[in-house]
Amino acid sequence: MTLKLPIYMDHHATTPVDPRVLDAMLPYFSQEFGNASSIDHIYGARAHQAVEKAREQVVSILNARPEEIIFTSGATESDNIALLGVAEKMAAEGDHIITCVTEHKAILDTAKHLEKMGKTVTYLPVDRYGLVDPGDVENAITDRTILISIMAANNEIGTIAPLKEIGKIAKAHGVLFHTDAAQAVGHIPIDVKEMGIDLLSLSGHKIYGPKGIGALYIRGANPKGKVSPVMFGGGHERGIRSGTYNVPGIVGLGTALEIAEKEMGAENARFRKWTKQMLEAFQENIEGVTLNGHPEKRLAHNLNVCFPGIESKALMHLLRNDVAVSAGSACTTISVEPSHVLSAIGLQGYKIFSVIRFGLGRFNSDADIQYVIGKVNSCVYKLHKL
Ligand SMILES: Cc1ncc(COP(=O)(O)O)c(C=O)c1O
Repeated sequence: MTLKLPIYMDHHATTPVDPRVLDAMLPYFSQEFGNASSIDHIYGARAHQAVEKAREQVVSILNARPEEIIFTSGATESDNIALLGVAEKMAAEGDHIITCVTEHKAILDTAKHLEKMGKTVTYLPVDRYGLVDPGDVENAITDRTILISIMAANNEIGTIAPLKEIGKIAKAHGVLFHTDAAQAVGHIPIDVKEMGIDLLSLSGHKIYGPKGIGALYIRGANPKGKVSPVMFGGGHERGIRSGTYNVPGIVGLGTALEIAEKEMGAENARFRKWTKQMLEAFQENIEGVTLNGHPEKRLAHNLNVCFPGIESKALMHLLRNDVAVSAGSACTTISVEPSHVLSAIGLQGYKIFSVIRFGLGRFNSDADIQYVIGKVNSCVYKLHKL
């Protein structure tokens, strides 16, 4: 079997569109191009039907109701609407938000913006596995708290948060609970009712759907009772998110979620087997390799490891034509910033710059895994000899 090089193992960054998703989308670029709001003619009515079908597909995987789903351009926008929208809507009730230091920048930077606007934000720490303590969440609640926002699964180390426990605490204190589930929905079971989630952000391109599409779940029949709109226009999506519907994107998102709902279990069993094989092979061949994130409470397709004494950028450079992975640090053009997630779990000094994140995906094969193991081991060996 010929391998397609470089082997893509960066599925937390983005995923390829599943061919089944693309097939479902294609007619909505050309023949079915109608504006989903122009329902008085057949073109618009068909586009509208496609949007509503996709809404049902989103609802099904979350155990939500159609009126609780707002289509957005992705998880960044959903996070912004959730935090800014709740802060504005609940201004009379309070001004305090609880979140966590390992959140995605879409949450952290929005929270910082809210601080500039006079709101108070508590950034909870995590333990060495990246887990936030529900007890800390409860202790942080004050009579001014309006929102708890804790990510469902971390995009770097794959740690899965205790959502149900946090949901219970939020409910007991009458505080809204939002979760950024961009890395979780479609990868692990999420039930918004059972987990007590009031708002949830998700994204199409993390689940073999297209880029530029996502959704925000807002519990209840009246989203405007919880969230003020942050942009204005034609009043689409119950007045929360104006703008002409991205029909192909929405169809793609719905189809991607329907596939994920059916295939998640079998896919995760494969990923678990492969990440175990990879970690064992690295640990057998390379001294001191350690796993970052929680050993069990983690996304099955995530393997975040430290290769001590190796600079991750140098390793990635050697692997460039063979394996596409990610380093554990955010790189800007002028500086390499240490990852805030790795710092938060206690990695220090050179160790932060020795991390590689492998994100396995639907189209990886057994042969890919064996190839990656061989390549990584030989490249690490080469770097050690330098
Ligand atoms: C946890 C998390 N939140 C938010 C985002 C942003 O998602 P999008 O690209 O859909 O805006 C990402 C993607 O990088 C993510 O991993």
